[in-house]
Amino acid sequence: MAKKKRKKAKAASKKSARKVVKLAAARKAKRINGKQSGKHNGLPRASNKPYGQDGKALTGVRILDFTHVQSGPTCTQLLAWLGADVIKVERPGVGDITRGQLVDVKGADSLYFTMLNHNKRSITIDSKHPQGKRVLDELIKVCDVLVENFAPGALDRMGLTWDHIHKTNPRMIVASVKGFGPGPYEDCKVYENVAQCAGGSASTTGFREGPPLVTGAQIGDSGTGLHLALGIVSALYQRNRTGRGQKVLAAMQDGVLNLCRVKLRDQQRLKAGPLTEYSQYGEGLPFGGSVPRAGNDSGGGQPGWILKCKGWENDPDAYIYFITQAPVWQAICDLIGEPTWKADPEYATPRARLPKLKAIFERIEQWTMTKTKFEVMEICNQVDIPVGPILSMREIAEEPSLRKTGTVVEVDHPTRGKYLSVGNPIKMSDSISEVERSPLLGEHTDEILKDVLKLSSKDISEIKGSGALSAPKKEEKAA
Ligand code: COA
Repeated sequence: MAKKKRKKAKAASKKSARKVVKLAAARKAKRINGKQSGKHNGLPRASNKPYGQDGKALTGVRILDFTHVQSGPTCTQLLAWLGADVIKVERPGVGDITRGQLVDVKGADSLYFTMLNHNKRSITIDSKHPQGKRVLDELIKVCDVLVENFAPGALDRMGLTWDHIHKTNPRMIVASVKGFGPGPYEDCKVYENVAQCAGGSASTTGFREGPPLVTGAQIGDSGTGLHLALGIVSALYQRNRTGRGQKVLAAMQDGVLNLCRVKLRDQQRLKAGPLTEYSQYGEGLPFGGSVPRAGNDSGGGQPGWILKCKGWENDPDAYIYFITQAPVWQAICDLIGEPTWKADPEYATPRARLPKLKAIFERIEQWTMTKTKFEVMEICNQVDIPVGPILSMREIAEEPSLRKTGTVVEVDHPTRGKYLSVGNPIKMSDSISEVERSPLLGEHTDEILKDVLKLSSKDISEIKGSGALSAPKKEEKAA
């Protein structure tokens, strides 16, 4: 009996050992397969290539770029720098209107165009020509994202409605910049300064005694392009889970307002009393019902102002932004030669200083006027006083540190020669951006038809013969 039991137990243990071996083998196989497919628990294994040498963040993403002017092109340029293959579709014979705007070198694409369209390929297609439409449909099938910033309704008039695009390629993301979101102004055409005004920037910029001002930073165009780029990469990420595309809209009014959110904050704070960090409070002037223009007041809780520096009489940029941050007040007093202000109750606390800010900045300015802006910068930084020299575009263009980081780059162009541009401001350790010159009009038409759409030479010459990729004859004659 005992022998029988032992035999049974032995058999059972052999069986379980076999099971364990089988399981281990299965686990091993899974490991090996995982290695072969580069996956680990369904996720890619960490690359063993050096950082910056395993493609780019958006490698494998193909963009059908229907953008023009500034807002849309800044978005697709950023995506191109991040590694996407950006195919810019342009109207035959004309192209993006900016190619010929603000021309500085006769016969060459303008800096307006070249500085917004790096790292892209250009194909010319008449989107209203039946053959052109067919080519576009084929491109829609092999692209991941269509980006456009036409006037409202223009894409639909080309026959490229969301329904049509979604039916042709359910994975396609359709991303648009428009001036306004849905509402009373949704059909309006919009340019940069219109958006700055409608988004709350102009009413809050400038000096309170003067008219509203637009800013030099292109917050309506480039700012909205940035917002759109984030929407696109987010939609690509979501598509990994859902398998389907979606519409992405960035309205310029919304983008500007997003960048002006501190002013909407202040609008609501007005109910609780005057805005103490605005210099009009210190000057005893009343506030109205809306956020006033703040001149050069600092937007945060640390009072600041722009002060003259040595040479201001002849140099319009010999100024510095000076912040009287509370923790360094004592250092400021020592620097400007007012050591008694450190303990004087009339000056010692931020609250006590508020009504006297104008006079305090005038006193600091007496000191900054004895130094160049770079000397002020150097002296103040040694004692942690935050200051910002007003840099001219000439100074920025010549700044060696910006060249070194690739924020300012020199690019060579076949028809205009060398020019300066702004490189990718986003630096990533494993997705390095190289700035490549913008394409000539239709430079990659053949390459795209052949390599992307895999069309035969016969098909390509048929399409070309139809006139879908070239300017209408009369335009050619006129030119
Ligand atoms: N083939 C044939 N036609 C083409 C084409 C192509 N490849 N590419 C463009 N077109 C056509 C469009 O279909 C449109 O024709 P339609 O109006 O007859 O349908 C036409 O060119 C012009 O488009 P539109 O966008 O209206 O250009 P515009 O120069 O009149 O307006 C803007 C420019 C910027 C004001 C306008 O596009 C707009 O408001 N865009 C949205 C907001 C925006 O991005 N503004 C910032 C620009 S920096």
